[in-house]
Amino acid sequence: MNLSVQIAPENRHGLLLANPVMTASGTFGYGTEYSHLFDIQRLGAIVCKGTTLKPREGNAQTRLVETASGLLNSIGLQNIGIDTLIEEKAPLWSSWRVPVIVNIAGETANEYAQLARRLDGVAGVSAIEVNISCPNIKAGGAEFGTNPKSAAEVTAAVKAATSLPVLVKLTPNTSDIARVAVAVAEAGADAISLINTLKGMAIDITRRRPLLGNITGGLSGPAIKPVALYMVYEVAGAVELPVIGCGGIATAADAIEFIMAGASAVQVGTASFANPQAPLDVLEGIEQFMSDKGISNLTELVGAARR
Ligand SMILES: Cc1cc2nc3c(=O)[nH]c(=O)nc-3n(C[C@H](O)[C@H](O)[C@H](O)COP(=O)(O)O)c2cc1C
Repeated sequence: MNLSVQIAPENRHGLLLANPVMTASGTFGYGTEYSHLFDIQRLGAIVCKGTTLKPREGNAQTRLVETASGLLNSIGLQNIGIDTLIEEKAPLWSSWRVPVIVNIAGETANEYAQLARRLDGVAGVSAIEVNISCPNIKAGGAEFGTNPKSAAEVTAAVKAATSLPVLVKLTPNTSDIARVAVAVAEAGADAISLINTLKGMAIDITRRRPLLGNITGGLSGPAIKPVALYMVYEVAGAVELPVIGCGGIATAADAIEFIMAGASAVQVGTASFANPQAPLDVLEGIEQFMSDKGISNLTELVGAARR
């Protein structure tokens, strides 16, 4: 069976994955945190935590609240910063078989470009995922992803600063995600990933206070899957680029739905918190499905529900 997928066909380096299952940024650390739990080298790719120019401590506690079929988070991009990532994490990654994609976030288009420039040519870094969709920071992040013009600006700035494949990650917190996707594609993105979390909140009725320290947060997990699936369907119909589906994927059946909606690959996020080897279970379930149905090439399934 052939599960391999080319995520950046137009890029000079390309981004050939052995299979379509990646981890979602912010739910799998730097990969190292999970490497004692299962063979992470079997995954298609690992996407690391969102990285900024300077290290960040993130938002005040409480930062995680479980909701019906979901999780609200307001981490606020706690991360080690680009320097430590390049010095300490990339050398480890360079010995791995599984490609690592670095997720970046900035407050201005220029900050995104600086991050992309720093990562260009760093051994162990296979691609960049541009997070223009983080709902939990005050400046930048999701603001760029909510309108086509600023989304295109950031994409163009990053593309001009690196030869690495560039994935742009979209926010669902916008009125027309397909328009944003088209703008990002025209600005030169190699692939599009979606969705990041949906903005939400929860209130402690005894204390009469919001439960999250940041008041609002981002909703993820099974609760958002139908929304994510619909948006992937919309975006895959609007652009020619490879689309990477994310949002509430916990099982192989979930992943296959996204692939049939038009995704070339998927990301598993919140599911890893309940079951650390969820990404591997998803991969093995896809293999089982293909074997049961006599499907020899994964590409047969991509967009199958669109035809
Ligand atoms: C605790 C947590 C931290 C996250 N941090 C990031 C991040 O740093 N960068 C990013 O692009 N997305 C981040 N996300 C969003 C996920 O990558 C993913 O897009 C979202 O959670 C939907 O997928 P899921 O329902 O499978 O979790 C985070 C999500 C969670 C739950």
